[in-house]
Amino acid sequence: MRVAMIGTGYVGLVSGACFADFGHVVTCVDKDASKIERLKNGIMPIYEPGLDDLVASNVKEERLFFTTDAADAIKDADAVFIAVGTPSRRGDGHADLSYVYAAAEEIAGLMDGFTVVVTKSTVPVGTGDEVEEIIRKARPDGDFAVVSNPEFLREGAAIKDFKIPDRVVVGTDDERARQLMRELYRPLFLNETPILFTERRTSELIKYAANAFLAVKITFINEMADLCEKVGANVQEVSRGIGLDNRIGRKFLNAGPGYGGSCFPKDTLALTKTANDAGAPVRIVDTVVAVNAARKKAMAAKIIGAMGGDVKGKTIGVLGLAFKQNTDDMRDAPSLDILPALMAAGAKVRAFDPEAMTEAGHLLEGVEFASSPYAAIQGADAMVIITEWDQFRALDFDRVKAALNSNIVVDLRNIYSPEDMAARGFAYTSIGRP
Ligand code: UDX
Repeated sequence: MRVAMIGTGYVGLVSGACFADFGHVVTCVDKDASKIERLKNGIMPIYEPGLDDLVASNVKEERLFFTTDAADAIKDADAVFIAVGTPSRRGDGHADLSYVYAAAEEIAGLMDGFTVVVTKSTVPVGTGDEVEEIIRKARPDGDFAVVSNPEFLREGAAIKDFKIPDRVVVGTDDERARQLMRELYRPLFLNETPILFTERRTSELIKYAANAFLAVKITFINEMADLCEKVGANVQEVSRGIGLDNRIGRKFLNAGPGYGGSCFPKDTLALTKTANDAGAPVRIVDTVVAVNAARKKAMAAKIIGAMGGDVKGKTIGVLGLAFKQNTDDMRDAPSLDILPALMAAGAKVRAFDPEAMTEAGHLLEGVEFASSPYAAIQGADAMVIITEWDQFRALDFDRVKAALNSNIVVDLRNIYSPEDMAARGFAYTSIGRP
């Protein structure tokens, strides 16, 4: 089967490489010529474990191609995926669909023979109808179907999530399109992945509902953590205690500094906009958006509190900047709220992240970047863990003690045990644990 993938962002690139690995012939199209050139040379635009090898092997097998020229890719394709960005529109928080509509125009001009146009970008309910209308207007006799096929992959675990998903959701009422989508995902049937066929609008909403529900879950446990701190309970045990109930489930109950990333903040906001416009507000998500934003801001005060209430002239060594581990993505990372607030309170910040420092350098003015965790905390008045990278989980505490100018450790990801840290002589503050 021949696939054209429009957009080589996170979703487009990973999906394209994985479809190629399934045995399809995939051409990834992007307008950014330098990105395409780098991809042709095996240089990935993002840090994602395993992606470089997956791309290299499929390029070598001549199943994966990169181009800036959409014409051939679309003309020959059985399925054209739209995987362009849908950022928050400046000012109102609605999803900006201009790239999606531009892709639809382009596909309309180039498609040849029956073509299934698949929206993989996260798009508000009704976008598929708009895409269909754009193409129909340009090609009144065109033979095509527009399908919604949202992607649920997580950054840092993207390849595994794509290849071993919990489910595949396909929204269409066109039988030929349904057959083609089944064929495309056939390799997944080996491990009995459920494939859920729905109406297009339902499929579009499933993606937002899934992300919003997970954001609710995280925000719920974060508020439980605050409560635990007040009443002397342990949030990790609360998580386990409720998560073992199968109706609740154990995942996404890790308390932390608030969710960030390219999806949850943007998609929760877009869902509330859609819901308000439709006259059916989802107040729980409205609240989650507000609580999460406030939480990220409150983390700086927590750190300052742990340091005695005044950080003027003090140095803070920060471990981790990315919004979570295994990614260099800084979008809506809690560090972007925390570090400027610490500096505004008079602290000097020295930070280390294994992958995100280049990106962080563009976003965090005034932060000094270090070459290792130990260099970040050398002579510092506190060590603060913001991202749960594996390499921070087993630090050499003799080195930490020798480097630090104090015994203060603030762990916003609960990667250490309060008892162990106290036994080692640290004044240790974490999230929701006595
Ligand atoms: C998310 C969805 O999981 C994925 O299905 C969707 O396709 C895109 O958005 P991603 O943003 O890559 O994926 O990361 P995820 O692992 O979901 O984490 C999102 C944020 O929530 C991170 O800031 C993370 O640190 C935070 N989080 C996650 C918690 O604070 N606690 C948890 O228990 C889980």
